[in-house]
Amino acid sequence: MFTITVPASSANIGPGFDSAGVAVSRYLTLDVERATNWKFTHTTDTIPEVANYEDHYIYKVAKTVADWHDALLPPSHVKMTSEIPLARGLGSSASAIVAGIELANQLCQLQLSEKEKLDYAVRIEGHPDNVAAALLGGFVVTVKMGEEATYKKLPAIDTDLVVYIPNFELKTEDARKVLPTEFEMKDAATASGVSNLMISALLTGDYELAGKMMESDLFHESYRAKLIPNYYEIRSEARKLGAYGTVISGAGPTMISFVANGQGVHVAQTMQEKLPNYEVVALKLDEVGLRTKIHEHK
Ligand code: HSE
Repeated sequence: MFTITVPASSANIGPGFDSAGVAVSRYLTLDVERATNWKFTHTTDTIPEVANYEDHYIYKVAKTVADWHDALLPPSHVKMTSEIPLARGLGSSASAIVAGIELANQLCQLQLSEKEKLDYAVRIEGHPDNVAAALLGGFVVTVKMGEEATYKKLPAIDTDLVVYIPNFELKTEDARKVLPTEFEMKDAATASGVSNLMISALLTGDYELAGKMMESDLFHESYRAKLIPNYYEIRSEARKLGAYGTVISGAGPTMISFVANGQGVHVAQTMQEKLPNYEVVALKLDEVGLRTKIHEHK
């Protein structure tokens, strides 16, 4: 009946802590058919099977949204395919939330606007950086003040990306426990200046400066580095290969490099040889975000 596709995302981008995010070219896909009973099937083994559909995270999100509208979710068969590894810093839960919201939107014909989808996603996820990128695509800057999330998508950024996915999981909750609870005013001012300059450099196409600012983060990178084996080695080796900047993807443990357009595959292949226990892949920014394709009845 319809297909929902949502990209993975990488939050923070160094100093844009809890604010910046990019959508990347790995996807969660739901193929949805109306049926007499609810059923979720997984075509990939990246996500475990769930015995009871009511315990499926995407069903729970869709049901929550349907309930907010006093709507009934009609039973459906959802075939789910995911290229997004769990608990690695690539926004798997954000993509699932955006997919669940769109599932309710389509099945209950809610006609949700982009802003409503983002508000619901932020309400469920708690922070806006991953969900905004997954929903809107590209490089998105958000701020959550109180319950309200405000956002702006940057014009297209002309870079390749390389991600280094290690073979272990790191829970965001654990990666947040190592962060300071307060900053001195002068340190906070410098840290936000670094972030402002990164965005300004990206907008003016000065990727060298943007990369330098990415690696000058003061909010979280240095505290989390100890949770991420090979953190300094990955940064310095990627830089030798010409990467503009390498940062923790979200709360980790994946890391991500911004590299010159056309260089991604070369950098990924060379880095893969140095990091045999990682999955190192060249990706692109996904500029589209959530897309839904309605299939014609035959
Ligand atoms: N901004 C979040 C963090 C992203 O760094 O903790 C991970 O969910």
